[in-house]
Amino acid sequence: MSVHSEIPQPDLSYAMEKARPADYTENGFYGRDIISVRQFNRENLKYIFRVAEEMRSMVERFGSADLLQGKVLANLFYEPSTRTSSSFSAAMQRLGGRVIAINEVVYSSVAKGESLPDTVRTLECYADVIVLRHPEVGAAAIAAHYARKPVINAGDGVGEHPTQALLDLFTIQEELGQIDGLKVAMVGDLKYGRTVHSLTRLLCLYDVDLYFVSPDILRMPAEILEEVKEAGLDYTETSDIHDVIRDVDVLYVTRVQKERFTDLSQYEAVKDCYIVDPELMALAKEKMIVMHPFPRVGEISYAVDDDPRAAYFRQMVNGMYIRMALLAAVLGKA
Ligand code: NCD
Repeated sequence: MSVHSEIPQPDLSYAMEKARPADYTENGFYGRDIISVRQFNRENLKYIFRVAEEMRSMVERFGSADLLQGKVLANLFYEPSTRTSSSFSAAMQRLGGRVIAINEVVYSSVAKGESLPDTVRTLECYADVIVLRHPEVGAAAIAAHYARKPVINAGDGVGEHPTQALLDLFTIQEELGQIDGLKVAMVGDLKYGRTVHSLTRLLCLYDVDLYFVSPDILRMPAEILEEVKEAGLDYTETSDIHDVIRDVDVLYVTRVQKERFTDLSQYEAVKDCYIVDPELMALAKEKMIVMHPFPRVGEISYAVDDDPRAAYFRQMVNGMYIRMALLAAVLGKA
């Protein structure tokens, strides 16, 4: 499953080249790859969110449209996924397009040793856009280098998950009506969680206070903390969720990423480090939200689901609207 070693590897600074923010908002995304949240600025986020809201009204009124009729999406997943792959698939189908789903690469030629560049160059013969999830950091940038059609990063190892961060930010905006001025806590596995890496980078575009709550061995990587500092934002690191629960507007909870640990005894030691339950929620503000990218494996008790502050299922719904907006944008139909 690795990107073949004998394949010429593009310099990953290529990813940064691709990652310059689109400089015009009335569809600067046409034909572009979506690899990193670094491609976004406040202006083009506003544009994507506006399109996502239009997608919401369209779906609520009509269910589907024919905007992407005749277009084909290849959904290529080298790692497990429920929400990301099915929401991309639903997004494409609700816009009238079709989907080639390769969710189980073990049944594809990847199992015969086909390289990532050859797999994406094959899929673009049949599809107009490729959504890729891969276990290695930088895989989406490599795929984008080889493909002529747009590649959308649906998670590259512990690297980034830009479309999740977009839907997370959109959810904060929709639920609380603003982003500037908020206190946002990220809780759990901040070392391996790609969703919190991307969300932190996006939040650097806003005026927010950040709280990073994790066990010592799962702290936010130093390079991301550096970016937060460079953005001029205040942040606090703690291992005790009680230090933040009374003050935060957004509690973004994550799963401890078992599959990224080399030493499973370390995983066992931290896996149940935080549990959000009604007792903890009793300490939180009346107007705040609890988010989670899911899957949850015990970090939020089911008893919290009926609390109106539990926003994680609404967050999933928003994922489809954001992915509809992104597909329409890269295919030139937004
Ligand atoms: C996340 C992921 O794959 O990074 N899931 C998702 O896309 N909604 C979070 C996780 O796996 O814990």
